Amino acid sequence: MKGVVLAGGRGTRLYPLTRVTNKHLLPVYDRPMIYYPIQTLVDAGIREIIVVTGGQNSGDFLRLLSNGKNFGLNRIHYTYQEGEGGIADALRLAEPFVEGEKICVVLGDNIIENNIIDAKKHFETQERGAHLILKEVPDPERFGCPELSNCKILRIEEKPKSPKSRFAVTGIYFYDSTVFEKIGRTKPSWRHELEITDVNNFYLEEGSLSHDVLDGWWTDAGTFESLLHATNLAAKTGTNKIPGRGSPPRPVMDSE
Ligand code: DAU
Repeated sequence: MKGVVLAGGRGTRLYPLTRVTNKHLLPVYDRPMIYYPIQTLVDAGIREIIVVTGGQNSGDFLRLLSNGKNFGLNRIHYTYQEGEGGIADALRLAEPFVEGEKICVVLGDNIIENNIIDAKKHFETQERGAHLILKEVPDPERFGCPELSNCKILRIEEKPKSPKSRFAVTGIYFYDSTVFEKIGRTKPSWRHELEITDVNNFYLEEGSLSHDVLDGWWTDAGTFESLLHATNLAAKTGTNKIPGRGSPPRPVMDSE
């Protein structure tokens, strides 16, 4: 399985912090934000990783991460997103790197306490399709939010005014290589972006979507409040990762 970290976008919700640098280079406690999603992939045993970046500071990623030696990697791949066309638009740039393999995609501002080893194992046993990781949150209206029935996802809504559950779809996604064909079928949303939620709903419609619920805390870091929250959580947790801690239940196929 290959890994994709999405670190494009303008980070406008963090202006003026992001006026002269990329959001994912900002500090979260004792390291740049981008370190966390890369570490999430490395902790899951994924060693072939591409970083999708963009904007005026893309060269800084190369200076910071170089060939990935700090993460025990032999190399890191990079690609560049022109503009800010959305998460799905950034992901499609990884297609030549993926070469038909399964992928794990982590949004560059998503930080977790533990690891995704169990979710990865679950997806490895899944012949095709996609696998999502959900987390119960106090503010589901800020995220992609699933409508659930008997622990199965019926539909996912992006930033719903009236959320149909207390869960967020975290920015950690497992996909088979049909994800690129599905991205090709998405249309820009009201925020002029190709939405990853539309891609996930395509998988749901074809009956090949499953999910886990994440163990341990999860947060994004793309707003002032969540950046502060992420910093406090990271400081409290320290840098220890406990492989295999907690076992999420077996995934349920949402379209069974
Ligand atoms: O954090 C999880 C949430 O992330 C999901 O629940 C939502 O379904 C998903 O749409 C996303 O919501 P946000 O509105 O918070 O995403 P945001 O625009 O902040 O982008 C998240 C990351 O995706 C960002 O840190 C970098 C990457 N990205 C984003 C855009 C818009 C890109 O690489 N390119 C882009 O054009």
